Amino acid sequence: MRPSSIDDDSGIRPNWRIIRSLFPYLMEFRGRVALAVLFLVAAKVANVAVPLALKFIVDHFEGRPADAVIAVPLALLAAYGLLRFSAVFFGELRDAVFARVAERAMRRVSLEVFRHLHRLELGFHLSRRTGALARDIERGTNGISFLLRFLVFNIAPTLFEIALVAIILLAAFSPVFVLTVVGAVVCYIVFSVWVTEWRTRFVREANAMDNQSNTRAVDSLLNYETVKYFGNERYEAERYDTDLAKWESARMKNRLSLAALNSGQALIIAAAVTLMMVLAAGEVAAGTMTLGDLVMINAYMIQLFIPLNFLGFVYREIRQALVNIERMFGLLGQPAKVVDAPHAKALRPDGGSIRFSNVHFGYQPNRPILHGVSFDIPAGSKLAIVGPSGSGKSTIARLLFRFYDVDAGCITINGQDLRDVTQDSLRAAIGVVPQDTVLFNDTIAYNIAYGRPDAAPEEIAEAVRRANLDGFIQRLPEGLDTRVGERGLKVSGGEKQRIAIARMLLKDPPILVLDEATSSLDSTAERAVLGALNEAATRRTTLAIAHRLSTVRDADRILVLEHGRVVEQGDHASLLAHRGVYARLWKHQQHESLPE
Ligand SMILES: Nc1ncnc2c1ncn2[C@@H]1O[C@H](COP(=O)(O)OP(=O)(O)OP(=O)(O)O)[C@@H](O)[C@H]1O
Ligand SMILES: [Mg+2]
Repeated sequence: MRPSSIDDDSGIRPNWRIIRSLFPYLMEFRGRVALAVLFLVAAKVANVAVPLALKFIVDHFEGRPADAVIAVPLALLAAYGLLRFSAVFFGELRDAVFARVAERAMRRVSLEVFRHLHRLELGFHLSRRTGALARDIERGTNGISFLLRFLVFNIAPTLFEIALVAIILLAAFSPVFVLTVVGAVVCYIVFSVWVTEWRTRFVREANAMDNQSNTRAVDSLLNYETVKYFGNERYEAERYDTDLAKWESARMKNRLSLAALNSGQALIIAAAVTLMMVLAAGEVAAGTMTLGDLVMINAYMIQLFIPLNFLGFVYREIRQALVNIERMFGLLGQPAKVVDAPHAKALRPDGGSIRFSNVHFGYQPNRPILHGVSFDIPAGSKLAIVGPSGSGKSTIARLLFRFYDVDAGCITINGQDLRDVTQDSLRAAIGVVPQDTVLFNDTIAYNIAYGRPDAAPEEIAEAVRRANLDGFIQRLPEGLDTRVGERGLKVSGGEKQRIAIARMLLKDPPILVLDEATSSLDSTAERAVLGALNEAATRRTTLAIAHRLSTVRDADRILVLEHGRVVEQGDHASLLAHRGVYARLWKHQQHESLPE
């Protein structure tokens, strides 16, 4: 994908706060920064001395036969070469010394943002595009590096160099020269800033179009299978091309406006240099200036405008960097909704009895999902939740895991309110087999060991066996080291589910949450895995969610949920006797499975 960036319309003004916030990163390596500045000054001084050396060389030959005394010009020539080299060399030294400062700042900020993103609740992540998030971080950290380097090493030094040259000119020649230089520089800066502001909207438009076509391409490729199922390659290509056409014209405008900027800058430089030359030539003719002086002035003019040439670019990029950093810091400023209470203690799960008391909850305030759900799971017993799709079963599991906080009522484990214990200790106590398992793009072994990263290979093998994965893994040429692909798309649904079961077994927590844990398995595999799950469940408090009632008929208690309300509860036999929703569902499913 093409690199791109978004412009936002926040000017330089409010961003001093950001520039100040970068200060600690500079202070972390005080010595390095000082050394880098030292090298910078050395480089600039060498740079400014180059035209001076040139002047002396030219002056030396003026009015002399060419073969006269070769020793002096040799020393001068050597000095000239050395100065040229020093100017570049010190510049490189400066970059090398400063690299660590910028790199470390990027590292620190990236880590901080990463940690913070993991702190933010599930809701935040569900409503955000991960791709865009990653780009925000990337742009933000690059922005910091850019700002550090250019603010310290481009703008300030350029001004310093201009001042040095002005001093030399002022000391040696009439003030007209200095006035011309300063006038040209001011014209140049004003023009650059003005035109850059004007063309910002073309840049922004081009970037927006770039983002749009990128998003379209990525989305289309992610949906590769769907595109093929419906034979819509042409349609996709046309849509993409429509975006590309807009992108093309935006880029054209961008290019043309850049050409206008560059030409204008060149015109100012040419005019200034010509004016200086005319002035200098007059003085040389009048005998008040040497030929060397004229060469020197010419060299200064050319040399001075090289860094200035970057100014338009740097100005735009700095604005951009500030915007990107601001957006990334905005992420950091995003408060986490689910946080540990200040007095939070570690959860003592003991047997892990669970109680929901009159729990009300909705993902959005205007759409309640759970309406006063209450139930008890005594330590070591198994509760099953059944009910139609969308009734809020998985929501209950998410609340128990504290992905969200309840709106009213409370949830306790072993008598401790979830909001009063640390999230780490809570989540360590619960093992989940989620409804949709997503795997890391790594090996099967890695994904299973994720349940407990320090598990021994024998323990992993044991978990594999209990999850009924051993047959599958034996048939794989690379066994446990087989890679599962992005989000685990290269293993089947049932295999993925058994990997999730294996890693839960490996975690070995006191509380189990099984959300349709065997829904993707055929009945043979299901029976085998259910054996392991039931065995694991005998010693633990278990919350099982199921569509297929036969998988939970052995539960100590079954809860029927409809539209976020508990409509029936009891064990299998009593629910059947009750002849309500459950009994109807049971009869229905028995009927369906008859042909099997
Ligand atoms: N992050 C979310 N934001 C908004 N609404 C959500 C969110 N997650 C789930 N919902 C809604 O909440 C309701 C309950 O969802 P939940 O996942 O708990 O259903 P479920 O009982 O597990 O259904 P299924 O049997 O299909 O898995 C659904 O109507 C769903 O659309
Ligand atoms: Mg569900």
